Amino acid sequence: MTATSPALELRGITKRFGDLVANDGVDFDVRGGEVHALLGENGAGKTTVMRIAYGLTQADAGEVLVHGQRIDLRSPRDAIAAGIGMVTQHFALVAPMTVAENLALGRATGLRLDLDDARRRVADAADRFGMRVDPAARVENLSVGQQQRVEILKALSRDCRVLILDEPTAVLVPGEVDALFATLRSLVADGLAVVFISHKLAEVRAISDRVSVLRRGRLVATVDGDTNERELASMMVGRPSFGVERPSDAGPELREPVLRISDLHAAGSHGLEALASVTLDVGAGEIVGVAGVSGNGQTELVDVLSGMRAPSSGSIVVGDTDLTGADPTRMMAAGIGRIPEDRHASLVGDLSVAYNLVLERLDDFRAGGRIDGRRIREHAVALIERFDIRAGPDDPVASLSGGNIQKVLLARVLSRDPRVVVVSQPTRGLDIGATEYVRSQLLERRAAGAAILLVSEDLDELLALADRLVVLYEGRIVGEMPTTGVDVDRLGMLMAGRGEAA
Ligand SMILES: Nc1ncnc2c1ncn2[C@@H]1O[C@H](COP(=O)(O)OP(=O)(O)OP(=O)(O)O)[C@@H](O)[C@H]1O
Ligand SMILES: [Mg+2]
Repeated sequence: MTATSPALELRGITKRFGDLVANDGVDFDVRGGEVHALLGENGAGKTTVMRIAYGLTQADAGEVLVHGQRIDLRSPRDAIAAGIGMVTQHFALVAPMTVAENLALGRATGLRLDLDDARRRVADAADRFGMRVDPAARVENLSVGQQQRVEILKALSRDCRVLILDEPTAVLVPGEVDALFATLRSLVADGLAVVFISHKLAEVRAISDRVSVLRRGRLVATVDGDTNERELASMMVGRPSFGVERPSDAGPELREPVLRISDLHAAGSHGLEALASVTLDVGAGEIVGVAGVSGNGQTELVDVLSGMRAPSSGSIVVGDTDLTGADPTRMMAAGIGRIPEDRHASLVGDLSVAYNLVLERLDDFRAGGRIDGRRIREHAVALIERFDIRAGPDDPVASLSGGNIQKVLLARVLSRDPRVVVVSQPTRGLDIGATEYVRSQLLERRAAGAAILLVSEDLDELLALADRLVVLYEGRIVGEMPTTGVDVDRLGMLMAGRGEAA
């Protein structure tokens, strides 16, 4: 071990899945006291290379060194022993247990859980890194941001010196991102080495000392953390990025309402009222954005509009058809297309791309009572081409990257030319290329005359796409405004429940 060796170094890592080369001779290192970002499009190979560093997967070629020593990683246990910790996107916490119990589990050597030790570690981390969590809280009652903090604490409590975070901000709201960054800054000040996987350029620039860019499994470059966004973007996608812009219209015009929601009430999962007197029209060729901090009725609104949840009163009308209380099949038949927040729940991972593309309308692909596999496959080949899905028709959806999974969903819904599109967090977790693509598809539907209700926590996205915004707070619409010349301060106040109506 020498003072100058990186805390973690990967040399020539190659990993294949069948014919696909997920990592192709990747070199990467991170030093104590720095945040080194790993940037790349969906499917670039970021997760794969870090799973190798954490012993979750074995490389076909290459080596892993810790403080200059080559190590053999057969499982995460080996990685943890070498001081490497990783927080994956799907947390591995035990929900009914408390924070302290989870931490104690992570360190258990015998049968006894040392809860006092775990509590001490939580208190210590709160003092040193400003990471506040209640050791007695049950994990299932914590917000996603707090759970992530517990995952980081778990890694720290195993004395990790290298902390790998796989898209840690994808699940966080803006305030939580700031808190995470403050934590990361104090961890690196303490000498920790941090690997930060992301495709959000602004975040990467805000937190990283160095940035490595992966493209199609290859390391393109390692550059300084303050490299400008345009340059990072073009390294990532292999071409300059121009962004998607909403075509500007000649000013407010009266659009024929297609979706009419009146005085809608609905109960939430806990029996409390989640939607209270929501009244809203969405016109043909219009995108109405729903702004708000998550948990203010957005999920319930999307569920009610897609027939997944029955309203307790009020009405939903599309064109001339009253759809109040209709089931998902009727909603779909009436022309409502739904692109839900939880992509995985509406796709079947083990099934092929081709079958997932027709899951909701298998009857259209029956001939003489039998499912016509050939037509399903032809249909898929056409949509793969049209929606730029980087996968084959027979690949199981579970093997696709996040961006491509979202494109499958989009293709399934938009290929039916819905009159109304209800879409939630359409680009969450997507890279620039996929984000641009998804947005351009929504704008294309708008141009074709669809009425689009767009729920997003990403204000930039709402401002880029929507014609008009409504703000949901505690299940009510507390404000409405056009997106051109929007007053962001007023919007923020409304979202925080401090608007004129509250
Ligand atoms: N277990 C697996 N079997 C087959 N293919 C896989 C497997 N894991 C990953 N891949 C493929 O390897 C490639 C790289 O995937 P990886 O998950 O590393 O990408 P990523 O850069 O993390 O993408 P994202 O930003 O979407 O998370 C993708 O094409 C993916 O489909
Ligand atoms: Mg990944």
